[in-house]
Amino acid sequence: MTASLATLSLPNPVLTASGCAAAGRELHQFFDVAALGAVVTKSIMTRPRSGRATPRMAETPSGMLNSIGLQGPGIDSFIENDLAWLAAHGARTVVSIAGGHTDEYVEITRKLNGNAAVSMLEVNISCPNVESRGQVFACDVHASSRVIGAVRRAADPALPVFAKLSPDVTDITLIARACADAGADGFSLINTLLGMVIDTDTMAPALGGVTGGLSGPAIRPVALRCVWQVHQKLPSYPIIGMGGIRCGLDALQFILAGASAVSVGTAVFGDPSAPVRVLAELEAALDARGFASLAGAVGYAHRAPEHRLGPDAPQAAAS
Ligand code: FUM
Repeated sequence: MTASLATLSLPNPVLTASGCAAAGRELHQFFDVAALGAVVTKSIMTRPRSGRATPRMAETPSGMLNSIGLQGPGIDSFIENDLAWLAAHGARTVVSIAGGHTDEYVEITRKLNGNAAVSMLEVNISCPNVESRGQVFACDVHASSRVIGAVRRAADPALPVFAKLSPDVTDITLIARACADAGADGFSLINTLLGMVIDTDTMAPALGGVTGGLSGPAIRPVALRCVWQVHQKLPSYPIIGMGGIRCGLDALQFILAGASAVSVGTAVFGDPSAPVRVLAELEAALDARGFASLAGAVGYAHRAPEHRLGPDAPQAAAS
C-alpha cells in the first residue's frame, strides 16, 4: 500500500482532506492519526483569521456547502501548537497553505522551511470562499503559475509542492500544465465547487457568506473526471484525489483514474473513523482484484481494453 508522491513515500495512500479535520486532534480520539498516510491540515494563512459570517454550513443533496472563510490561528501558532502536536503523535503532515497574495504564500513557506514535521506543502490556490473571485488563483493560468512558482522557489528543494486546483474552470488541464511548468511536483484534485442554497422560509441565502463550496458524494463524478483528465495529460505527475470519497470502492475509482493517493474529507463529519475504514476497504478491494501493489492500480482504467486485467488474469496487475 506504499504511496509514492514525488519524492515523498507514504506507508499508505489514505490522507485526510484539508479543512475537514483541522490539525488532526479531533480525529485522534477515534483512531491513531499516525495510521494514515498523512494528515492534511486546514489551510493556514499568515495571521489569525476569524473567517466568514455564520451560518457557515448548509446541507445539500448528497453533500454539503461550507463557507468557513479560511478561519485559522495563523502560521506561528500553527507551527508551535498544531504541527508540534502532529509530530509528537508520529503523524506525517501535509501542510495546506493559503494566502491573499503571492507574498503571503512565500512568507508561510519560509516559516515552514527546515521544519522536519512537514512532509509536503499543499498550496491551496482554489478556496472559493475568498473576498473576490480574483483571489481564486486556480481559475487563471497566470495567477496559478505565479503563486506556484513563487512557493516552489521559496520552499526547501526537498519538499514536494502540490497545487490544489479548482474544478470551476473550463479546462483544468491548462491550469495543471501551468502549475507543472511553474514547478509543481503534483496536484491535489479537487477543491469544492462554488454553490449556494436559499432558505425558503427566510427566502434568503442559507449561508452568511451567500455562496459556499460544495463537497461530498455529489461532486465525486466531477472530481473523478478532473483526476482522469489531468492524469491523461500529465501522467508523470502524482495526484492526490478527493471529492466525496466514502468507502474503499470510491477510493479505488480515484486510484484507477490516476490518483496515487486519496483524501477523505466530508465523510468524517458523519463517520469520524472513515479514513481508516476507507484504507482497510481499499486494501481489500485491491487484493480482491489481484493487484500486488497500489502502484499497479494507479491509472489502470486508462489502459486499452486488451491490456486490462480480467478476473482470471491477476498476474497482469503486478506488471
Ligand atoms: O472557506 C474555507 O475555509 C474553505 C477553504 C477551501 O475550500 O479551500
